[in-house]
Amino acid sequence: NSQSNQFCEAGIGYGEVGCGLSSSTKLLIKGGTVVNAHHQEVADVYVEDGIIVAVKPDLKVTDDVKVIDATGKFVMPGGIDPHTHLAMEFMGTETIDDFFSGQAAALAGGTTMHIDFVIPVNGSLIAGLESYEEKAKKSCMDYGFHMAITKFDDSVSRDMEIMVKEKGINSFKFFLAYKGSLMVNDELLLEGLKQCKSLGALAMVHAENGDAVFEGQKRMIQLGITGPEGHALSRPPLLEGEATARAIRLAGFVNTPLYVVHVMSIDAMEEIAKARKSGQRVVGEPVVSGLVLDDSGLWDSDFATASKFVMSPPIRAAGHNKVLQGALSNGVLQLVGTDHCVFNSTQKAFGIDDFRKIPNGVNGIEERMHLVWDTMVESGQISVNDFVRVTSTECARIFNIYPRKGAIIAGSDADIIILNPNSSFEINAQSHHSRTDTNVYEGRRGKGKVEVTIAGGRVVWENNELKVVPGSGKYIEMPPFNYLFSGIDKADASYLSSLNAPVKRSKSTT
Ligand code: URP
Ligand code: ZN
Ligand code: ZN
Ligand code: ZN
Repeated sequence: NSQSNQFCEAGIGYGEVGCGLSSSTKLLIKGGTVVNAHHQEVADVYVEDGIIVAVKPDLKVTDDVKVIDATGKFVMPGGIDPHTHLAMEFMGTETIDDFFSGQAAALAGGTTMHIDFVIPVNGSLIAGLESYEEKAKKSCMDYGFHMAITKFDDSVSRDMEIMVKEKGINSFKFFLAYKGSLMVNDELLLEGLKQCKSLGALAMVHAENGDAVFEGQKRMIQLGITGPEGHALSRPPLLEGEATARAIRLAGFVNTPLYVVHVMSIDAMEEIAKARKSGQRVVGEPVVSGLVLDDSGLWDSDFATASKFVMSPPIRAAGHNKVLQGALSNGVLQLVGTDHCVFNSTQKAFGIDDFRKIPNGVNGIEERMHLVWDTMVESGQISVNDFVRVTSTECARIFNIYPRKGAIIAGSDADIIILNPNSSFEINAQSHHSRTDTNVYEGRRGKGKVEVTIAGGRVVWENNELKVVPGSGKYIEMPPFNYLFSGIDKADASYLSSLNAPVKRSKSTT
């Protein structure tokens, strides 16, 4: 078809053997261990026209069905990455993975859906959405949108309602960092939290104190520390802990659920643990870089190496990662994202003389599933069922698209991976599918390999080959009022009834 030809001629370089749509719309995945977050069993999975039709042992099919043998392997829901930035304009440049290359990389690593952050254009949500709808036309897998809120007034408030009621967006992100660009103050955050609550939309926060970060940056420059390590030194865990605590308390004050993105430090995690223990509805999202890396790379004497690790909040000193892994295994943190936001070494070099100009962000969309498997399952910290929960199911539940996504049951979308626990993976910038020329996980090897990825019923990754078609991904609308909102109204009512009736006082007379 012409779209696939266009793709081939563009020389993007994937899937030279089969750029077209897979001819078979019927698939049988035979003999694998089918793993859901709630259950696992040895069964066959039968797929027709992009939908899972049956999950049962020993299914019999006709000759026109493509059969994939999964004996001895795990058959799991495709990963859902709750946090990506494809084709985002940021810090004077644009992330180098767009909706095609980033998604192709995702599919090669077993992720079949992602939720990207729409950035408003001059504060306009409508213009922001239009711009992202355009960017996403080349999608080769399913995607949804969160939306950032960077200012607040009546028109933003109205547009938030349009986004939720008409456009399929059920979450809004507030940046407490990036002073002078994306940052919002407490007044705006409160307005946003109130509007999120009334719409049944989930409020998300990037929790770092942006004013203090600005101060920390000046301090580093005065000390003559201009290299990538200055980035981490200027925004210590203290500032992440402060902003996390503040956002949690303000969400508690409004009584609306809160989702803390990219939890990078023990400090932030402990605030989430404390709030959850008290019954507050707070979700914590660690990202792969925070779970598996430490800050040592930032001190590399080679700028290109050190700068690739620059992201916000920063990758922390060794020790934070292990504690975050523990928090993921005991449920204080619930799902794993990537914050995939890649800039190549030329873009990173914008900050060669000043860490403040290094575009912030690291890769991970392709590596997430393998690294979570190796770090968490192979080490015995979580079960295979929990792997499915933290990489897919919980994201689908939170963003209210379960069980269409995040499950292998009859009626769900056929987004499926086959993982061979006895095979192994190796990561490097030469073989990865992202457009960037570096990889923060360079040289890493581990156990477990995604051998097959099926997206929307099509086999898109098999035998280490991608067969992806721009335009084949669908926009997934996400409805408001997820499970975190259930009972919020009752809690509000009991709060109101707990207040004393207004005290009547007579006007003082002389
Ligand atoms: O460094 C990062 N995280 N870049 C992406 C923007 C954000 O803060 O999520
Ligand atoms: Zn081709
Ligand atoms: Zn952020
Ligand atoms: Zn991000």
